[in-house]
Amino acid sequence: MTTPIIRRDEKGILTLYVKNRPFFIYGGEIHNSSASDSEYMEREVWPAVEGLHMNTILAPVYWELLEEKEGVYDFSSVGGLINQARAHHMHLVLLWFGLWKNAESMYIPGWMKKDTQKYFRVEKKSGEKIPVVSPFCKEAIEKDRSCFRALMKYLRSIDEEKNTVVMMQVENEVGILGDARDYCAAANEAFEKQIPSELSDVTGKKGTWREVFEEGAEEAFMAWSFGRTVGEIASSGKEIYPLPCYANAWLKQYPWYPGSYPSGGPVISMQQIWKTAAPGLDLFAPDIYVPYCADIMDAYQTEKNPLFVPEIRKDAVTASYCMYAFGSKYAIGYSPFGIEELTKDPNAVDRPPLEVMRALNIDPTAFEIEGSAEILSETYKILKEMEPLLLQLRGTVHLNSFVRHGENDFGTFVRFSRYNMQVAYEPRSGGNPLGAGIIMELSENEFLLTGTMCRISFLSKPDDAEKTEILRLEEGNIIDGHFERKRVLNGDEKMSVRFGRIPETYRVVLYRY
Ligand code: DGJ
Repeated sequence: MTTPIIRRDEKGILTLYVKNRPFFIYGGEIHNSSASDSEYMEREVWPAVEGLHMNTILAPVYWELLEEKEGVYDFSSVGGLINQARAHHMHLVLLWFGLWKNAESMYIPGWMKKDTQKYFRVEKKSGEKIPVVSPFCKEAIEKDRSCFRALMKYLRSIDEEKNTVVMMQVENEVGILGDARDYCAAANEAFEKQIPSELSDVTGKKGTWREVFEEGAEEAFMAWSFGRTVGEIASSGKEIYPLPCYANAWLKQYPWYPGSYPSGGPVISMQQIWKTAAPGLDLFAPDIYVPYCADIMDAYQTEKNPLFVPEIRKDAVTASYCMYAFGSKYAIGYSPFGIEELTKDPNAVDRPPLEVMRALNIDPTAFEIEGSAEILSETYKILKEMEPLLLQLRGTVHLNSFVRHGENDFGTFVRFSRYNMQVAYEPRSGGNPLGAGIIMELSENEFLLTGTMCRISFLSKPDDAEKTEILRLEEGNIIDGHFERKRVLNGDEKMSVRFGRIPETYRVVLYRY
């Protein structure tokens, strides 16, 4: 058995390995309800994602359907999903919609939903109960843990050889909305205690939650409570089948106070707490619907946390962020949300009602799909072919990748050993990607440049009296790590290296005189 695993490669970069080889997830997450009906999947989803050059679908598995009768598990629908994925040559990341989904408990089985005494809910300070099972409800957690463990046992029994399933998301965007913490009796009691010793060890502080975390005590307390629980569920499943497991975050965003976004989720500022509380989780992943996607990716990729983007906006700019995710952040995967819609007629797409987007704090333009399929598909295709080069060059000064970070970002300046490059971004416009690119230095004078919506010019080093010119410019494609040229560009076509809306690759050889 070779179970997928996240470990450091020989350069120390955290990498997902499937069958002992680095595996990059060129993914897409399907809509919440799609996987509940295999016929719907066959009709509406699998044909729709064909041709997008994806290798992985992120699909939910629903506790309410797997344990409709208490204690009786039926995983046949999961088996069906796996068979479909195999028939369509895809891998899966399964999303465990268990106790918590979008800061609610909407996917708990009906028998649990109805028994609010035994499976008690989060209480606001006002005493109002909200539809979220409390992370202090041990009985509910035990039920979730048991079903997740049984699911992992089932996955192992049918998938340990083929590794169709490469990773598990445990719960979905946990936390509580409407207040900063749970005020049920058990929570109140725990809140007055000393912080756990593991947390004292990493913070170097001792005392109650209030004493140590002051104004941020409520959120820190909830982060520990959710982190501990999700971590325990993950670890318990991994004892049976050690697939990589992660938790995703509804981002901390305007209006910025805990409870306006889910308090206790794995947002950046809570990651030390989550990491300490949940050693069984391999990573924390951002769901990115805000306009400043690149800043979020920058923050989520750290020495200890590889970047995986399970959900992100699906307008045309997503392709540019994708290039940056793999080229600059060494992402293990990338996955726009609602992927089955990408190939539809943009006018035929049902957008979530404005009030739903507002409630979920989603930038409405994130769901525009004009141009997305064509550009993302080409980006995935290029990245796949680039893999051998990316693996060889990442972590070195010979690889540079960039994306336009915001409205006031006009370009960037890239330094290589013998030359510098000036990158000027084109202005942003609807249905187009952003200025973005990947530059690979193959030798002192030779480069491969892939990009969109930018112009690149080549400069001598400041202390170099010689001028820099293009010796040879070729358009072409990278195929399995090797550049295959098409036209050699000279004359009118060599005035500048300019990238348009569809990603392209050039090989350029420079010289100085
Ligand atoms: C984030 C959630 O994680 C998804 O399941 C979905 O609800 C999207 N928001 C919005 O459609």
